[in-house]
Amino acid sequence: ALSARDSLYIVMNFAKEHFKGLLKEHEEGKSIGLSYFHERGFNDRTIEKFELGYALNEWHNLEETALAKGYSAEVLEKSGLVIFKEDQKHYDRFRGRVIFPVHNLAGKIIAFGARILTKEKDQPKYINSPETEIYHKSNVLYGMYQAKNAIRKEDFCFLVEGYTDVISMHQAGIENAVASSGTALTEEQIKLIRRFTENITVLFDGDAAGIKAALRGIDLVLKGGLNVRVLLLPDGDDPDSFSKKRSSTELKTYFQENTKDFISFKIDLYAADASRDPIKKAEAIREIITSISVIPDPIKRSVYIQETSSLLKIQESVLLTELNKILIGER
Ligand code: GTP
Ligand code: MN
Ligand code: MN
Ligand code: MN
Ligand code: MN
Repeated sequence: ALSARDSLYIVMNFAKEHFKGLLKEHEEGKSIGLSYFHERGFNDRTIEKFELGYALNEWHNLEETALAKGYSAEVLEKSGLVIFKEDQKHYDRFRGRVIFPVHNLAGKIIAFGARILTKEKDQPKYINSPETEIYHKSNVLYGMYQAKNAIRKEDFCFLVEGYTDVISMHQAGIENAVASSGTALTEEQIKLIRRFTENITVLFDGDAAGIKAALRGIDLVLKGGLNVRVLLLPDGDDPDSFSKKRSSTELKTYFQENTKDFISFKIDLYAADASRDPIKKAEAIREIITSISVIPDPIKRSVYIQETSSLLKIQESVLLTELNKILIGER
């Protein structure tokens, strides 16, 4: 007999095929969805690789197609594909949006993200599947199925913010990228990356929100015992928009030349003029030591203390005293 989870995988696979078919064969899908992806610069190989799709702008298209194929109303509700209200009202969750299927490590579909095509007030840009028996969003990183081999091979992983960042980087030949998809990074997601590499490069949007998320990400990665580097884009760019303006070679060169270890990133962020401004310098030191304090490995902590000492020209003993204050305070 099929388990409840099996029937969810099956209905999610059906929905994925349905959305793919609409994108490629339906008039509305082609004229609205497919042309949207093409305008964004996604080629057909990329669209196929990520199994992108389109949901018609109708209230019951997916539901009625699924029911006609014998899927139960119950499984449609449990999958989150159809929303049921108390008063018997029900409707397709994804309507008039392009579809980004979320794969698990084995390539099975566990969720969907869906982007609106037109700017509509009081409509969210993206909507996502709810938590289900097969989808726990805090354990999932978008693109891991497509990226895992490249992550192993390159022995590091780019962590980006959005669906389209992952996809554009793949198309540019950088396949070791996964996205947290707008939610705050979790410990489970770090553990997932650790199955493939110990090195993470945080590559967030070049805006205030991106910097804030990067800072939070750094400490979480360090806490998980992994090595973290940071790549900041010019303000207003994200990896998707940035990669569209450059050739693959230019992109790779930029990434190589602008990736910083987290200490240099924090020094540059807090204390561009630290050498002249002692207050900023003190602030930067405290920020850096706080990050170092969450690293589980004492040898790594000591290496980073040495680096901070030489970069900021502060005696190691002073830094160690500060570090130990934090370490003792926490225990
Ligand atoms: P594009 O505008 O299509 O290029 O998307 P983006 O990925 O650049 O969007 P943005 O940088 O604004 O957000 C990053 C990620 O956060 C997105 O890929 C989504 O996963 C998520 N996100 C963005 N907007 C929303 C929203 O309105 N609701 C939800 N639930 N998630 C969102
Ligand atoms: Mn109906
Ligand atoms: Mn952003
Ligand atoms: Mn973005
Ligand atoms: Mn974007």
